[in-house]
Amino acid sequence: MSEESFVTPWTERFGMRVPVVQAPMAGGPTTPAMVAAVSNAGGLGFLAAAALSPEKIAGEVAAIRVLTDRPFGVNLFVLDDLTPDDASVRRALEAIDPLRAEFDLPPGRPLERYAPDFRAQLQTLIDLRVPLASFTFGLLSADDVTRLHANGLYVIGTATHVAEGLAWREAGADAIVAQGAEAGAHRGTFIGAFEDALVGTLALVPQLVDATGLPVLAAGGIMDGRGIVAALALGAQAAAMGTAFLGCAESAIPQVWKDRLRSASDTSTAVTRAITGRHARGIRNPLMQRLSEATDKIAPYPVQNALTQELRQSAARAQNSDYLSLWAGQGAALGQRREAGLSATELMKRLEQEWRDETARIAAFKR
Ligand SMILES: Cc1cc2nc3c(=O)[nH]c(=O)nc-3n(C[C@H](O)[C@H](O)[C@H](O)COP(=O)(O)O)c2cc1C
Repeated sequence: MSEESFVTPWTERFGMRVPVVQAPMAGGPTTPAMVAAVSNAGGLGFLAAAALSPEKIAGEVAAIRVLTDRPFGVNLFVLDDLTPDDASVRRALEAIDPLRAEFDLPPGRPLERYAPDFRAQLQTLIDLRVPLASFTFGLLSADDVTRLHANGLYVIGTATHVAEGLAWREAGADAIVAQGAEAGAHRGTFIGAFEDALVGTLALVPQLVDATGLPVLAAGGIMDGRGIVAALALGAQAAAMGTAFLGCAESAIPQVWKDRLRSASDTSTAVTRAITGRHARGIRNPLMQRLSEATDKIAPYPVQNALTQELRQSAARAQNSDYLSLWAGQGAALGQRREAGLSATELMKRLEQEWRDETARIAAFKR
């Protein structure tokens, strides 16, 4: 079988040799060095920009462009500006302050801003003419998608169930990320209850392929060549992998988080809204447990996220994994079959080889 015959129409469009998208991961993992390394290795790197100011986004995109002339993407959270009421902030701090005290932090206070201005971030992606833009947590208007298209951006929406995929198609999106329940970190769900939207990747991908007719990227639980082959077999055009890249040398997360990934098992993660106010999957630890004890004291995203941030930063400085948000997917343990701290370039080489080997293995099955 020739190498070309492996490539899907979507990967071909972006000149990719390997059907692997390095999924955007906010909070430190997806540095410009990682994004560029993945794109240079024949995949497609994605910068997570949701937590970044427009100036910082411009700086990181410029850094990527120094390192690669290949396509890459930038990801944002679709968020309305939200001004929380003082009472909900005070209630949340009642639960967070005792944990802050353990790191000698003074009681928390209401903040001026809880998240960067989404509209300004969106305008920045347009001004920078980034090749691909992806979105989660919400839906863009058709007008916004038209504006992105008019400026040459390729638009990808995240869906956790079919109705969300159809809403993105209606808005004019070019492709869909199918985020299965296995996926690490925040659920992208924006229609209906989160509990109703924990559809596994195996069930979700083909249903989104059939319902939308758009290119679908499979996300959630894909950690090696077997997962990539499975994603393509389900009709996905590429595998979007997050957790697999978390431990890479270029990933700027605390070492203790990388260490916890190396000892995680298939049952180590849980989905909680206690840390950020939005449901997210991570490795269980005391932070998750203690904040989950008083559900009435959890403020909505992004308020809870911002209120727990200084505590988590202090824990990161102290290399204390008990009070970090240890976001990771259910497949984390599969990464333990590789050496710790591989570069993204080396990981891409391994993934490419595994995927080719798996494809050949399946092709060799006797009819
Ligand atoms: C640490 C971490 C941070 C993430 N941050 C984002 C993000 O900023 N935007 C986004 O669309 N998805 C984010 N995700 C989800 C990934 O893009 C992707 O859907 C997921 O990692 C796929 O599942 P996997 O972790 O099992 O590979 C994050 C995932 C992780 C593990």
